[in-house]
Amino acid sequence: MEGMMRVCIVLVGILSLLSIEAYEVGLTFLDSAVAQGAVCLDGSAPAYHMDKGFGAGIDNWLVFFEGGGWCNNVTNCLARRDTRLGSSKQMLTTEVFSGMFHNKPRYNPDFYDWNRIKVRYCDGASFTGDVEEVDPKTNLHFRGARIFQAVIEDLLEKGMKNAKNAMLAGCSAGGLTSILQCDNFRSLLPATTKVKCLSDAGFFINAKTIIGTSQIEDFYADVVKTHGSAKVLSPACTSKMSPGLCFFPQNMVQYIETPIFLINAAYDTWQVKNILAPGVADQKGTWRECKLDITKCSSAQLDILQGYRQEFLQALTGFDNSPSRGMFINSCYSHCQTGTQETWLRNDSPLLSNTTIAKAVGDWYYERGTFQKIEDCQYPCDKTCHNRVFE
Ligand SMILES: *[C@@H]1O[C@H](CO)[C@@H](O)[C@H](O)[C@H]1NC(C)=O
Ligand SMILES: *[C@@H]1O[C@H](CO)[C@@H](O)[C@H](O)[C@H]1NC(C)=O
Repeated sequence: MEGMMRVCIVLVGILSLLSIEAYEVGLTFLDSAVAQGAVCLDGSAPAYHMDKGFGAGIDNWLVFFEGGGWCNNVTNCLARRDTRLGSSKQMLTTEVFSGMFHNKPRYNPDFYDWNRIKVRYCDGASFTGDVEEVDPKTNLHFRGARIFQAVIEDLLEKGMKNAKNAMLAGCSAGGLTSILQCDNFRSLLPATTKVKCLSDAGFFINAKTIIGTSQIEDFYADVVKTHGSAKVLSPACTSKMSPGLCFFPQNMVQYIETPIFLINAAYDTWQVKNILAPGVADQKGTWRECKLDITKCSSAQLDILQGYRQEFLQALTGFDNSPSRGMFINSCYSHCQTGTQETWLRNDSPLLSNTTIAKAVGDWYYERGTFQKIEDCQYPCDKTCHNRVFE
């Protein structure tokens, strides 16, 4: 009997340990946005997950945009339209909050009591699209910029108009949103609000593939054309080069006026898989194993990856070191490090200068200190990485 009790207590202990690092938050549909034509690819309402701020954080707002690649033309947008990345009808109704979204100071010391909002991605262009016409044959809506606007207006209405602190953030395609829309976000908030932006894994670079083709450059040019994104991009950039090129952070970060922090792995898994060695550039599949698990790369492949890191660091040089700007660039094989506890803040999470991502971002946001660190050694030097292994 006593033995049973002990087993039970241990089980309960394990279960609560597992659940403590993350919890679920329901989905809110923004039905009122439909009237403004601010809709997902399939015409459905946009949606977000919100966990309300409390105590001292009641007037602080973290608005985070989800990622999920892009669709560049009608064919690919049609393939996305009826998935969770194109329709709120397909979205899971709960989302896990962890890391930067956690509501406990132990897991998220600087933002736990803020209003925390995770906006679902459903437009396919990093929330930049704005095309009025809808082809009845496809029923595709290219309206990401309108979703962005409608979500911010809705949150202003729900109390963000009194915000003391606000941060636009996102990961992957959403990390690109927080770069491209950073100054727009600033302009939508009251002048008295302290506004900053945080991009996690959003610094996609304009690099050639392993066979020397300009795949991502052509792809972004299509995305911008299909979604009518040019008008939300930085005018300072679009006056100098084509709108497709202004979708690359390296060509427009220098014009961002709002304080911004970049988190990125120098060997970003999405970039390696889709910019450097996409399937079309690797017909024989020689990169397949290496892309899934960096420990499986040959020495020739590792050399190419080291070259990619160099290109990545070169592309970052346009991001000047003004004290309002922050940077956490580690030599890891990963993608998105804010929304999971193991990479945001844990006893084994990634470190640069002995500092976790959670502390670097918190210190920068609250101006307790600057943080601008690029890890100055190559893979596999950093033993604190959580390198991704794909199934
Ligand atoms: C759409 O884009 C994909 C990927 O870039 C390409 O393979 C395909 O040919 C394009 N389709 C059309 C109709 O342009
Ligand atoms: C790193 O930080 C931890 C916790 O803040 C501290 O205990 C440790 O001494 C630091 N190590 C170094 C090498 O500074």
